[in-house]
Amino acid sequence: MNLNLNHPVAFVPTMGALHAGHESLIRIAKELADEVVVSVFVNPLQFENAEDFSIYPKMVDADRKLAEASGCSFVWFPTFEELYPDDPKIISAGEIGNLFEGMHRFGHFDGVLTVVQRLFGLIKPEFAVFGEKDFQQLFLVKQMVANLDLPVSIISAPTIREASGLAISSRNSRLTITEQANASGIAAALEAASSAKDLVMARSNLLSELKKIPGFALDYAEIIDETSFEIATTTTRQPRAIVAGWINGVRLLDNKAMLQPGTSK
Ligand code: PAF
Repeated sequence: MNLNLNHPVAFVPTMGALHAGHESLIRIAKELADEVVVSVFVNPLQFENAEDFSIYPKMVDADRKLAEASGCSFVWFPTFEELYPDDPKIISAGEIGNLFEGMHRFGHFDGVLTVVQRLFGLIKPEFAVFGEKDFQQLFLVKQMVANLDLPVSIISAPTIREASGLAISSRNSRLTITEQANASGIAAALEAASSAKDLVMARSNLLSELKKIPGFALDYAEIIDETSFEIATTTTRQPRAIVAGWINGVRLLDNKAMLQPGTSK
């Protein structure tokens, strides 16, 4: 397939239902290259739950408008058949793909890496921009690029938040206003952890604040070494708290860098 792109290309892969978070990724892409490609493809391979896949919001016209207004030069809505004329060649996300998010969403990261690698193969971007909000995804994409020696630079972009602190996500629209206000407690819990003087206090603040959120069912909350995804210890130089859980059937995730040991606020 020839997409007739002018290289260098900066690429933003998405599943659509574009929002301010995507807008910021596209604006960052535009600073990297004139040709900015946004793909919109709700990837069935990364949904372990058929219902979640079937109700994923689809809004083609609004997505095209937002992408173009943010600086995208080509919005691509590939079909499954265009991406996979033959059976998909599944990429394994390895051991780290089975931790945390992967433990709760079996096969999710294999599906993500499979589609990202396929999109990279077709678009051949020089740059690809991923949000820090999906921190494990960002880590695994970087790991795949290094392992397969793919000729693309992965650029990470900061999480965009509502004024309440709630990390912006396509799934937030499935929460009521009250539930969204409750969900902003996740960001508050991360903030309380990040200002703790050590890891023990950070873990304790994180869990106690998360427990206070009405209707929040926790899947995991941990402080990891962001360079390896191992559990952080007192010698970890780049600790990061990661959290995921549910409010009223809507999955929410967020993360935040913690104070490095030996530094104080
Ligand atoms: O982050 C997402 O929206 C998806 O996981 C991605 C990277 C577009 C792959 O389908």
